Amino acid sequence: MIKVLFVCLGNICRSPTARGVFEARVRAAGLGHAIAADSAGTGDYHLGESPDTRAVRAARARGIEIGHYRARQVTPEDFRRHHLVLAMDRANHRALAHALAHLGPGIDGDAARARLRLFLEFAPGLGESVPDPYYGGPDGFERVLDLCEAASDGLIRHLAADGYPSAGGASG
Ligand code: 4NP
Repeated sequence: MIKVLFVCLGNICRSPTARGVFEARVRAAGLGHAIAADSAGTGDYHLGESPDTRAVRAARARGIEIGHYRARQVTPEDFRRHHLVLAMDRANHRALAHALAHLGPGIDGDAARARLRLFLEFAPGLGESVPDPYYGGPDGFERVLDLCEAASDGLIRHLAADGYPSAGGASG
C-alpha cells in the first residue's frame, strides 16, 4: 500500500480537500486497493474540528464528501508511515523541513526529507503553492479544488509510473 499525506496549515481547508479529491480519483482509477491518503496540519489551531464548511460545500458540489474528516497535527511518525508527505504550499514545506531538522531518535532524517515534496510538483505550470483560501471568498475554494484535481492526476500518474505498490520503505 502506498500512503500519501497532504499537509497544510490548519488541516480544515486545503489538505482535506486534497485528500478528498485524490481519494476520489484513486478510486476512479481502480487503485483504491493500492493507494491510501490522509491529511494533517502544521498548526494546532483547529484540532479535532471538521473541515471548514465552505470547503465541505465546495467539494460536495463536485461530488466529493470531506465532512467526516477531523483535523489533526502532523507528527514525526507521519514521515515513517507515509511514502510521500506533500505540502500544500511553500510555507508549510518550510515548516516541515524545519521540523525534520529536529527529529527525535528512531527516525531517519534523510529518508524523511526524501519523502517531503510540494503537492504542486505534480501539476507542472500551475505554480508551487495552493493559495490559502481561509480569509478569502468562494473563488479561493474553487481554485483549491481545481489545483487539487490537476495535481492529483499528476500524482496518480507518477505513482503508477513508479510501479506501485512497491514505492518502498514506509512501514505498515
Ligand atoms: P488550511 O487553511 O491551512 O488550508 O486549512 C487555514 C485554516 C485555518 C487557518 C489558516 C489557514 N487559521 O489561521 O486558523
